[in-house]
Amino acid sequence: MSVASSPSASMKPPRGKLPLFTITIVICSFAFLALLYADTSRSFFNLKSCPRRPAAKKSKDKTAGDNLKGFEMDDRFEFDPEECTVNTGKWAFNKSLKPFYTDRSCPYLDRQVSCVKNGRRDSDYQHWEWQPDDCTLPRFNPKLALKKLRGKRLMFVGDSLQRGQWQSFVCMVEWIIPDDKKSLKRGDFLSVFRAKEYDATIEFYWAPYLIESNTDQPIIGDPKKRILKVDSVEKHAKNWGGVDILVFNTYVWWMSGLRLKTLWGSFANGAEGYEELDTPVAYKIGLKTWANWADSNINPNKTRVFFTTMSPTHTRSEDWNNTKGIKCFNETKPVMKKRYWGSGSDKKMMSVVASIVGKMNVPVTILNITQLSEYRIDAHTSVYTETEGKVLTDKEKADPLHHADCIHWCLPGVPDTWNQILLAYL
Ligand SMILES: *[C@@H]1O[C@H](CO)[C@@H](O)[C@H](O)[C@H]1NC(C)=O
Ligand SMILES: *[C@@H]1O[C@H](CO)[C@@H](O)[C@H](O)[C@H]1NC(C)=O
Ligand SMILES: *[C@@H]1O[C@H](CO)[C@@H](O)[C@H](O)[C@H]1NC(C)=O
Ligand SMILES: *[C@@H]1O[C@H](CO)[C@@H](O)[C@H](O)[C@H]1NC(C)=O
Ligand SMILES: *[C@@H]1O[C@H](CO)[C@@H](O)[C@H](O)[C@H]1NC(C)=O
Repeated sequence: MSVASSPSASMKPPRGKLPLFTITIVICSFAFLALLYADTSRSFFNLKSCPRRPAAKKSKDKTAGDNLKGFEMDDRFEFDPEECTVNTGKWAFNKSLKPFYTDRSCPYLDRQVSCVKNGRRDSDYQHWEWQPDDCTLPRFNPKLALKKLRGKRLMFVGDSLQRGQWQSFVCMVEWIIPDDKKSLKRGDFLSVFRAKEYDATIEFYWAPYLIESNTDQPIIGDPKKRILKVDSVEKHAKNWGGVDILVFNTYVWWMSGLRLKTLWGSFANGAEGYEELDTPVAYKIGLKTWANWADSNINPNKTRVFFTTMSPTHTRSEDWNNTKGIKCFNETKPVMKKRYWGSGSDKKMMSVVASIVGKMNVPVTILNITQLSEYRIDAHTSVYTETEGKVLTDKEKADPLHHADCIHWCLPGVPDTWNQILLAYL
């Protein structure tokens, strides 16, 4: 613990360091009161905002009674991307919180993620709100979102989880636009939602590894036959030019558990020349290829770049001590244990992203959604999904061990929160 670095530490204190805490309670008695009752880790984080903004600011619309009842005050400061990390916090249940859309009201949702339509009857999973420890995340505001996108192209690039984030964004804004002022065109690779009066598009580009592979389209079912062209991205990337806001992801496709067949140079040389690499090694080379493309093609004055971190999978119920559970099947509540981290999120892969993005010339904002999504074992599509264009039959639904999907998320659901964070950054 380097207490010695205190002069700068008082500007940007490292978290959870005790000496700083002693100093700050003098400045900030509100947080001190909260500290007596609320959980300690949270209150530490609160302290850092005190010098900047009055602690009581956020509580002004609450009565003193409310505060006493909860034994804590909401003294988080307003979201400021420079100051607030969104990845430490908690999910708070709020029954009166209504999603902006349902899987019936939004015409653009894939059946795959339309859990209610597919038979899911519990609905608590739709009423949790993510609350960062040290700031308040503004609610998603569809009007504001469209205003910020006026005259612009927003494009999500990546895999099916990224497609979920795209559909969530579209569904959260489309309902305020009259029918004749909006459209959606779907393609094999590129799908475009258009808000005509705003001259704005919200697009999705399918590139599950970002780099090229032989399984981009059509998908090869057998992971052993998939070959990644880790040094090539141009075929996809030429479609990313001129976009104002790019949001990338790639993770789950790399995690087949097998070593990855990778190829340098031309596919025309045939598949024989491939080399098998460990997952993080292949991932690193692939992401570097992507990073080099970004650094030499993106003008940071015109284009903002985001990278969504890995979306956790929940296929081992032992991870959250439900030894009788079957994957995420039947889970109806988030994990409440702070900093819960399951086996579906590979920290090595996360550190590859951090190290590559850290060395890029183009600034990339990390949408670090992994920790907050880790808690949400209750929010996957589970058996309320479809495979190969067909909703699961009752018989399949009764066999969650083989059919529960604990990778994708129901919509409305967790990706709405990812977009709430994205909008806060825009
Ligand atoms: C719950 O959500 C409703 C509707 O958005 C809001 O008015 C209310 O303040 C929320 N309650 C809490 C405790 O955050
Ligand atoms: C971006 O803008 C800055 C300041 O206006 C300018 O110095 C820089 O050359 C610009 N970069 C590019 C790639 O256009
Ligand atoms: C699971 O049980 C272990 C051992 O009792 C405990 O340390 C851990 O916090 C539990 N995990 C969760 C998610 O409750
Ligand atoms: C799932 O939940 C339902 C309703 O609570 C219950 O009837 C059923 O036995 C549960 N199934 C399993 C496998 O736990
Ligand atoms: C995202 O947040 C986690 C903590 O929740 C951290 O360990 C990780 O390094 C962060 N990832 C990136 C790429 O910044």
